[in-house]
Amino acid sequence: MQFNDVLELVRDDLERVSEAIRANFESDVALIPTIGNYLSNNGGKRLRPIMVLLSSRFAGYAGARAITYSCVVEFIHLASLLHDDVVDEAELRRGGPSANSNWGNEASVLVGDFLFAKSFALLAKENVPEVLTSLSQASCHMAEGEVLELVNHGNLQIAEEEYLDVVYRKTAALFESCCEIGAYLGQLDAGAAAALRAYGRNIGLAFQLVDDALDYVAHEDRLGKSIGKDLEEANVTLPLILLHAQASPQERAFLNGLMEAERVDKRDLATVIEYMERYHIIEEVLGRARAYADAACEALKPYNANGDSEPLMAVANYVIERQE
Ligand code: IPE
Ligand code: IPE
Ligand code: MG
Ligand code: MG
Repeated sequence: MQFNDVLELVRDDLERVSEAIRANFESDVALIPTIGNYLSNNGGKRLRPIMVLLSSRFAGYAGARAITYSCVVEFIHLASLLHDDVVDEAELRRGGPSANSNWGNEASVLVGDFLFAKSFALLAKENVPEVLTSLSQASCHMAEGEVLELVNHGNLQIAEEEYLDVVYRKTAALFESCCEIGAYLGQLDAGAAAALRAYGRNIGLAFQLVDDALDYVAHEDRLGKSIGKDLEEANVTLPLILLHAQASPQERAFLNGLMEAERVDKRDLATVIEYMERYHIIEEVLGRARAYADAACEALKPYNANGDSEPLMAVANYVIERQE
């Protein structure tokens, strides 16, 4: 099964999710739907809703709650993107100017707050404590991850475990929670639910590692966001950690200089990419991501007797091969 087949499988559900997203952006404070519709119309991959929908199907659930929760996880994701683009001073998102470029930091932060608040209002209405607990924990992790990343800016000595902890919190925790929701809705037994959570966690780790590689080597038009942002912000991710560990003393001195620099220009980025090519860093990062994606599939193997895991396994493949 290919990712396109997965999209076909969930197409109607995703349409219903889009409707729920539009409906829940409504507010008599006009700037909220304006920014909301701008963001949602520019699409995005809708990967987190897809995770909720597929894990619900995997667990044998086909009811309406999966649509509501898909809307909620996309809202939490959108809120985190609005805040993240302010923190990262990002100019591009989803192939166009970011919300902060168009409306400023203040509006982005505040509409992000609205989205978080709306997410929890929707969860309160559903009144399912297990899901509320899961998503509130994931949201705390996301905020912690962003803060931890911030305090580690410029730290080329950061241990790989600490970087992975940031990745788990800021990205993988939400993927894990998406899958936990599906397991809950389908009332899976403890063993299968744990497998689904492990799948989600590993997909999330793989997804962010690929994102960190793409930040150095993607085609900007396809990715829909700027390249080289992590270096510019002295955000030390796995490509830089691995490079720093293998670099010569001169190369290290150059990298250290960039962490302190007022400005990092295109030439600096090109130099770093040249070093990365020298040590095959991006291949190594993608190899690690592949290992997480494999672990995700491995977790679901015992449950694939009737091909039930195939769509989720196709997502694992997509996460590694994506260019956008
Ligand atoms: C971007 O997520 C933020 C990260 C966790 C890297 P996506 O790449 O899923 O963003 P959209 O929703 O498709 O725009
Ligand atoms: C992802 O962080 C945002 C969150 C998970 C909160 P990044 O800063 O790594 O993602 P992009 O590259 O801006 O999408
Ligand atoms: Mg960012
Ligand atoms: Mg960021």
